[in-house]
Amino acid sequence: MEKRDKLEEIYIKTIDISPNSQLIIKLINLLRNEYTSIEEIEEYLAKDKGLTAKFLRIANSPYYGMSRKIKTVKDALLLIGLESAKSLIFATSVIYLYKNFGEFEKRLWEHSLGVGLFSSLLSTALGHISPDLFLAAGILHDIGKIFLYNANSNYYQNIHENILKSERETIDIENEKIGVNHAEMGAFVAEKWNYPDEIKKVIKYHHNFPYPYVKERIYSEICTIIRISDQTCLDLGLGFKKEIPPRIDYGDLKIDANLVKNLRKIFIHQFSHQKKFLLDLS
Ligand SMILES: [Fe+2]
Ligand SMILES: [Fe+2]
Repeated sequence: MEKRDKLEEIYIKTIDISPNSQLIIKLINLLRNEYTSIEEIEEYLAKDKGLTAKFLRIANSPYYGMSRKIKTVKDALLLIGLESAKSLIFATSVIYLYKNFGEFEKRLWEHSLGVGLFSSLLSTALGHISPDLFLAAGILHDIGKIFLYNANSNYYQNIHENILKSERETIDIENEKIGVNHAEMGAFVAEKWNYPDEIKKVIKYHHNFPYPYVKERIYSEICTIIRISDQTCLDLGLGFKKEIPPRIDYGDLKIDANLVKNLRKIFIHQFSHQKKFLLDLS
């Protein structure tokens, strides 16, 4: 079977089994349209109590540091800002793809959120003005895993057990056992759903070596930040395994290894506080 056919076959399985997968496509189109107004987003979310509740929970988390409780979507959109809110809704909508919120999904969500939060911390420290893009890219970087898991859950869970014990790279094991890996799978979806270019690159190249793999400067920095965050979270045990020590040469990246080390301490402290707001999405 051609690789594209295989990716399409796995993609269709998620679309078939997740009753909300059509909603996510509609929502992405709405959010990607720069002319979409606050009222239109409000109207859309009004139809979906589940997503609204999750969105408000995150909007009220210490991440946004609001001094008063945000009770309505309109409040959230005004206080957080339209662009930040769009980015947050866009990223959290992956939850729609989960079959249920079982053990696998919980761990994946914890890992993805950790990567998102660390990325936004690191990007802010490096002077980027849109930490929300980094938050979204971090939350979405492993989206391909949801599709591989949905297509054959027991099989993929077993593969993950092997990955936990193995010293080998995750994507090598996936290639061998499934014929495609989660980075390719995610890239296929990101292309289909017209994700922003930066996020497409992150999803596609976050396991490629040598690093940074992406040559274009405008993309290489976000890819590097997500990669460092991914490795940091894996190293902290947020997610599925402690990976082989990060193969990142800070010398080439103009990012100070000590800065990452210090942020790691801040992150551990912040994440333990944010956890209770963000992790329970059932
Ligand atoms: Fe990954
Ligand atoms: Fe990851």
